[in-house]
Amino acid sequence: MQDLTPMEIVKELDRYIIGQDKAKKAVAIALRNRIRRQRLAEELREEVSPKNIIMIGPTGVGKTEIARRLSNLANVPFLKIEATKFTEVGYVGRDVESMVRDLAAMTVNLVKQDAMKKIEKEAMDMAEEKIMDILLPLPKTKKKKKSDEEGEDNAAQEMEKIQNSREKLRKKLKQGQLENRMIEIDTKDASMPMFEIFAGSGMEGLDMGLSDALSTMLPQKVKKRKVSIVEARRILINEESQKLIDMEDILKDAISRIENQGIIFLDELDKVVSTGSRTGGPDVSREGVQRDLLPIVEGTTVTTRYGPVRTNHILFIAAGTFHDAKPADMISELQGRFPVRVELSSLVREDFIQILTEPRNAIIKQYVALLGTEGVDLQFQEDAIYEIASLASIVNENTEDIGARRLHTIMEKVVENISFETPPRTGTVIIDAEYVRSMLNEIIKDKDLSRYIL
Ligand SMILES: Nc1ncnc2c1ncn2[C@@H]1O[C@H](COP(=O)(O)OP(=O)(O)O)[C@@H](O)[C@H]1O
Ligand SMILES: [Mg+2]
Repeated sequence: MQDLTPMEIVKELDRYIIGQDKAKKAVAIALRNRIRRQRLAEELREEVSPKNIIMIGPTGVGKTEIARRLSNLANVPFLKIEATKFTEVGYVGRDVESMVRDLAAMTVNLVKQDAMKKIEKEAMDMAEEKIMDILLPLPKTKKKKKSDEEGEDNAAQEMEKIQNSREKLRKKLKQGQLENRMIEIDTKDASMPMFEIFAGSGMEGLDMGLSDALSTMLPQKVKKRKVSIVEARRILINEESQKLIDMEDILKDAISRIENQGIIFLDELDKVVSTGSRTGGPDVSREGVQRDLLPIVEGTTVTTRYGPVRTNHILFIAAGTFHDAKPADMISELQGRFPVRVELSSLVREDFIQILTEPRNAIIKQYVALLGTEGVDLQFQEDAIYEIASLASIVNENTEDIGARRLHTIMEKVVENISFETPPRTGTVIIDAEYVRSMLNEIIKDKDLSRYIL
């Protein structure tokens, strides 16, 4: 994955996104540039900053989708955030740095899950051993009192008997025959409901390190709990996993991945840009957000609960319609940090036909597969697909252009009855243009109605 060339990246993106070649090319180059950067000698590596991108285009044409697919493809830390979030009422305290903290939390989690998967088998074995010890403990090897030959013999025999029973029991355990039996286990009661309250209140700054500090201050309570074996296994696997993984390594790995490979997708950037022509001076709050964003995009160190994270080499991909405000209306320092600008084009009927049928996750394929699970063989005739695409274009023109998003609402309407009647309905269902029209004509004719329904 790390080795994809720009052309290969575009080819991969082509499997999910129709058209928008310029945008694909730009993100492919940006991604490859980071791989190139990592190969540089250290001194130069520090100097090369990422070529951040602004994607300009109407809503629903694939901006978010391109960024999301790119991050999946490259398997790199990815965070999507709306720039407008920072203009909201009650913004005070919701500092812009929180996006780096969120990305850190996400990445640490992912890296941890990866690590957990690697030791899964081992943790499972250890958990099983613990359950066995509860179900049928081995006798404690007693200290020999005297040289009591007979006693020793008895003990050895006893041991062998227990071992045998244990193996039988273990077999049952493995076969899942004991799942509902209740056993008593020691659990460490580490989770503090209090933290959830803190975490939810938007006090990221406060939250940082606080819970860690508290959890070391408060003694970990060991509690005896009676649980089923199913539950016990889950708890014990979790506990054993924590012991097996090295949290320090995980944090180091996670932070290095964020710093060198992380992508932050900054949606609706245009909404924090005010048009130059407006009377009454600059829009303070919007420009304020840009000023807040600037250091992070330029490169700064953000303190997170997992350690300091440098943002110098995080790739920022911004997006927006830029209908009113233009990139040139941004504060100039920020403009300079987004050297790559690409435009995405508005989607037309021919694009819709392709979007409906071609991508790996194409909407038509999704419906066919969904109903296929219930024994319905859904078949869309070519004229039906043409009709759906045409109607989507028409509604976009007549009401509001929401791009490919329109296809979802229209498709839902088209298959509504079939979805409802299945089961008991089974067998082949053919959808042709006539059927599409019959499902949608009433709504399309009425502009107001389509505004609500489609
Ligand atoms: N060019 C395209 N090719 C395939 N699907 C698309 C395309 N543009 C949009 N879509 C689909 O439309 C929906 C919205 O796209 P999205 O990328 O979120 O739009 P936006 O440009 O507003 O960020 C997604 O489900 C996406 O799969
Ligand atoms: Mg979007």
